[in-house]
Amino acid sequence: MANKAVHLPVVHGLGQTLRKDNWWAGPFVTFLVLASFVVYATFRAFEGRLYMSGPYLSPLASPYFETASLGIPFVTPAILILPFPGLFRFTCYYYRKAYYRSFAMTPPACAVGGRSPGNYNGERKLLLFQNLHRFALYFALLFLVFLWHDFYKSLWFDGHFGMGLGSLIIGLNCTCLSLYTFSCHSFRHLVGGVIDSYSETPFGALRHKMWSRVSQLNVNHMAFAWTSLIVVAMTDLYIRMVASGAVTDMRLF
Ligand code: FES
Repeated sequence: MANKAVHLPVVHGLGQTLRKDNWWAGPFVTFLVLASFVVYATFRAFEGRLYMSGPYLSPLASPYFETASLGIPFVTPAILILPFPGLFRFTCYYYRKAYYRSFAMTPPACAVGGRSPGNYNGERKLLLFQNLHRFALYFALLFLVFLWHDFYKSLWFDGHFGMGLGSLIIGLNCTCLSLYTFSCHSFRHLVGGVIDSYSETPFGALRHKMWSRVSQLNVNHMAFAWTSLIVVAMTDLYIRMVASGAVTDMRLF
């Protein structure tokens, strides 16, 4: 028996849909959180101070470069380094989906009318810069080394080993950023995506094991993306408050 063609109603116009659920909640929350982070990070980048306190260094200014002696207006330690993690986040496969929906609304959600329907061109022309993600990954991996070194340094108070609340927060931040970076789609490709046959490749068994682990992490990449973003901001805020004297760091031992 021939299959009968089913014609679904077509929706046109921004926000038009046949969906009955709260489809707008996801893009709306995404917009709020991403916009808040961008505003906060921009403020901190131009503020140009309160990046460190005792053995603590803010992740927004790590690795730290002294810029005061340069005498160039608006160049701060944070402005020097933020383009690298910024590019990594901006070109992230997950964040692309998030801001294409919540900021560009092309479309804002599945089965919901978007801006300029019918004009979808894919990631071409100017959007080709998204291909920089794999290169941004190499910098992100390098930055992890600096950040874990910052955690190590946060455990030393005037030459004595110890731990403060700030050390714990910095350690949490390193963990979240590591999970985000190692669950990256480009990292998954790097460790195992270019291989036709693991059994015929040098270190094939090891690479297959790594690829399997990264694949497990990759399933939760979206969760790591959000958690790490929020924890980075919280870590910087905590160090800023300690540096400004608004709060006193709690020494655990
Ligand atoms: S895909 Fe998200 S960090 Fe690479």
